[in-house]
Amino acid sequence: MNGLPMSPQVFAILGALIEEKLGIHYGPLDKDLLGDKIAMRAVEAGFDSLLDYYYYLRYDPAGEAEFDALADVLVVGETYLFRELDQLEALVRDVLLPLAEAGGPRRPRIWSAACATGEEPYSIAMCLADRGLLHQVEIVASDLSTRSLAAARAGAYGPRALRSQVKVPPFAWRFLQKNGERIVVSEEIRKAVDFRRINLLDGDSIGKIGFFDVIVCRNVLIYFQDSTARRVIDMLTGALFPSGALLVGVSESLLRLGTALRCEERGGAFVYRKAG
Ligand SMILES: C[S@@+](CC[C@H](N)C(=O)[O-])C[C@H]1O[C@@H](n2cnc3c(N)ncnc32)[C@H](O)[C@@H]1O
Repeated sequence: MNGLPMSPQVFAILGALIEEKLGIHYGPLDKDLLGDKIAMRAVEAGFDSLLDYYYYLRYDPAGEAEFDALADVLVVGETYLFRELDQLEALVRDVLLPLAEAGGPRRPRIWSAACATGEEPYSIAMCLADRGLLHQVEIVASDLSTRSLAAARAGAYGPRALRSQVKVPPFAWRFLQKNGERIVVSEEIRKAVDFRRINLLDGDSIGKIGFFDVIVCRNVLIYFQDSTARRVIDMLTGALFPSGALLVGVSESLLRLGTALRCEERGGAFVYRKAG
């Protein structure tokens, strides 16, 4: 507790503002958690009332920049290298490899949407590199959080980037180096990922990054209400080429949202496919 009380009314208006701008939904049980996080940031920014902080965020010309700083505090950036690796390997082997081998007029494109600190797109890049495909596939990765993106671009992680329960593939150490406690991603892998800042609620930004053969959007829709998740899925579907594939986290499903995409199994992974 940071000493800035949050009334139910202020929780309601701040929660609504956050959901409107980031999509992240906070239910009544999250009030204390949200209150602590916002109060921490509000005090840092020089406020002594959460209502004043709300007015600033909502109406002040500088409120947008402050909202970006608040977003850095709010987002849950939980991620690690080779997370749900079987899914990523199936994607590379059964979707990207055939596309690259078909040798079309352009390189296949993959987008890791909501990539947090970059472990996901780097894991994809390493799977591609292992098959000699790194430079044949264009990898775009994005997140909302500028702080996470800075860490992603640096590509140097603490020991928690490799979790003990995760199977580290044999090829990993060709692309990772240990530097004391740090795990450093090789320059070749780092350079292969094009990081951008994109809010998944922002249709204009999504409309500008072009079309993809594969979009990976894992472990972020869980923070959204169904109506928001549906809107995001529709926008991501719009950014897929015909026959393109969308991948969500292993514990997530799009079926209850009524997506236009068809659920298919590829090498043990479920992908959602756009009509050809
Ligand atoms: C739990 S991490 C998932 C990281 C990675 N995809 C994985 O599965 O390991 C969720 C990420 O979603 C991002 N996020 C949350 N809301 C977002 C939004 N509206 N637009 C873009 N990214 C968002 C957060 O910044 C955070 O980095």
